[in-house]
Amino acid sequence: MSGLNLAVLVSGNGSNLQALIDAASQGRINGRIAAVISDRKDAYALQRANNHGIEAIALDKREFAGKAAFDAELSKQFRSRNIDLIVLAGFLSILPTEITKEYEGKIINIHPSLIPAFCGKGFYGEKVHKAVIEHGAKMSGATVHFVDEGTDTGPIILQQSVEVAEGETPETLAAKVLVIEHQLIVKAAALFCEGRILLDGKKVIIL
Ligand code: GRF
Repeated sequence: MSGLNLAVLVSGNGSNLQALIDAASQGRINGRIAAVISDRKDAYALQRANNHGIEAIALDKREFAGKAAFDAELSKQFRSRNIDLIVLAGFLSILPTEITKEYEGKIINIHPSLIPAFCGKGFYGEKVHKAVIEHGAKMSGATVHFVDEGTDTGPIILQQSVEVAEGETPETLAAKVLVIEHQLIVKAAALFCEGRILLDGKKVIIL
């Protein structure tokens, strides 16, 4: 199977993107990152793409006449590059139903908790880890899932847990979970590019 074309969508630091860049350049993913698209011009993730000669596109929402125009530009970017897999790596904008329908089963997201816990609207970044600790949860972790029209509601592909230790802070938990995120996002992209992820309704089977 010839390598697939990946688009990685980012909004921030891009450490998950970096894990994907490293894996692809080392041949651990049978695909190429055709474009990195950010909804923030100042995302360091764009710099990471430039460092590796990967096309980096910054789409500043303020430069578009509304969300529909921004979403139409995203679609155009995907179509023009024959994207096979869209990876949301800390992307903070919500994809419209038009895109989640058109690319159903081809969009994956990394979330820093064990879905269905601590996810959904308003649960992103540090807020997730703060909620985990405030709730007194003993385990947390990361989840890679397919993106559907909901928020963090798509079929779960991979999960891995970490212990929430005594005295854990949102910062120390975030750091622990981020290590897992990097492992899972690479593994999920690699499995997808090898055609080993089977969607059976809401269930995912790894071949
Ligand atoms: C991380 O907090 C991760 O949990 C979530 O968004 C952030 C992405 O970090 N998916 P980075 O931009 O990949 O470093």
